[in-house]
Amino acid sequence: MDSILAALKEPDLAEGLRPTWEPSLATFPQNARPSLLDPAVIEISREWCGLGREVDAPLRMAADRIAGNQGLCRLLWNINWQVFDSSHSLFTQTTAKLAKWPQLTAALGDQAGLFYLLSALDFAPRLRAYHRLLKIPETVTRETCQQVCCFCGNYQQAHGGKLGVFPSQHRWLRNYVRDNIYVRLGRLEFWARPYKGEATVFRHRQSGATVALAEEGACFNAEGYMDELAHQQSRGPNWTATLRITPDAVRGYPITPWGKAVRREIELASADWDRVLTRDDPVYDLHIPSGGNMGLDKVVDAFRRAHQFFRAQFPTRAGVAIVCGSWTFSPLMAEVLGTDANLVRFAREVYLHPLASTGPESLWFVFLQDKFDLATAPRETRIQRALADYLSQGHVWRNGGMFFLTDDLERLSTQHYRTQWPAIQKQFAL
Ligand SMILES: CC(C)(COP(=O)(O)OP(=O)(O)OC[C@H]1O[C@@H](n2cnc3c(N)ncnc32)[C@H](O)[C@@H]1OP(=O)(O)O)[C@@H](O)C(=O)NCCC(=O)NCCS
Repeated sequence: MDSILAALKEPDLAEGLRPTWEPSLATFPQNARPSLLDPAVIEISREWCGLGREVDAPLRMAADRIAGNQGLCRLLWNINWQVFDSSHSLFTQTTAKLAKWPQLTAALGDQAGLFYLLSALDFAPRLRAYHRLLKIPETVTRETCQQVCCFCGNYQQAHGGKLGVFPSQHRWLRNYVRDNIYVRLGRLEFWARPYKGEATVFRHRQSGATVALAEEGACFNAEGYMDELAHQQSRGPNWTATLRITPDAVRGYPITPWGKAVRREIELASADWDRVLTRDDPVYDLHIPSGGNMGLDKVVDAFRRAHQFFRAQFPTRAGVAIVCGSWTFSPLMAEVLGTDANLVRFAREVYLHPLASTGPESLWFVFLQDKFDLATAPRETRIQRALADYLSQGHVWRNGGMFFLTDDLERLSTQHYRTQWPAIQKQFAL
């Protein structure tokens, strides 16, 4: 491994790769070209992943080049094995040690991104086999495979149209094939998981009114947002929410559907209010593949399909809510993008809640920069310009979280939670 990494001019990776090198190479085909470098296999996979024929020639050239170099071939095998085959603990240990995944610019120059694309294409046969096992319809497998095409779109956007996949995105593919049910349905992706419990949600038995209460111990600033970074914390006095649940009632601090916590404790009597979402409940963790064009019709279609899919295929995993934490659900979005933007229309339909922000790093999906740098951030599209202008004015960036209860699917596109809010405000004098 050391001599291979030295020859590839990637010696710094030795410590990070060492734990997986031997176990991965134990399955390396000694006397045959690995199937992930077989042009016939690649062609089938790229078709499943939604890429056009025009990529066959560059993919074949890169595959030949890697197959002809013992070191590159083994490194590709190792990286692919790490992402798709290694155990959870080994993978976590390795990613913690690998400050950066091999960039391979010295060894492959312009074809460096193709190294990861070739490994990413191996996602298709793996996902097909996994979905066959789970009896997931082939149409859903095809939709889910589109993620590789989305990853290519990101890479091309950041590399002047060059073909490839970012190493950091390549590793995400692990999540779809390992003991998870994580699929794309229409415009969006859904991952069946237990809820992390960022809010606890109650519903009034008669009126159907919905109120989210903040987690016990969650810390907010005077505006009702969560501060995490030191420069955010200096902005004002913080307060801490409590959540007391007894057989008769729950006492806690409400969150508005606009995503702000309110510093006023309220009491919900158990006789009137049901707990409808709490930590560890089954939910669909929402992910938004890149590609823009996310009008509300697409969201409505994907939400409905998701619940139908899980109820029909995996009834024990049917979710009580669709949840997400992202830059896309920032409470600042209307201010930044204006009220007509697709993301702002989407946000009106769901219940937002505060999330601790990691700063503008979370805007990677918009600017595709290794490390966010406002001075060099591209301003080519409307979203990029709006966000960069907002940050240039000195504003602090905040991510946001959201939930949407699956019981409310019929009410999607009626701004259900926001419409109910004035009555709740009145009842509790908020
Ligand atoms: C989230 C997302 C789907 C929202 O799309 P949308 O609001 O429907 O976007 P639209 O198609 O209406 O495009 C609006 C403008 O934003 C631009 N835009 C859309 N997605 C963009 C992106 N990922 N990066 C940069 N600009 C983007 C469009 O080009 C358009 O600008 P233009 O008219 O100057 O060309 C989109 O931003 C996206 O694809 N993001 C990448 C994936 C992502 O962020 N997922 C969440 C991960 S936490």
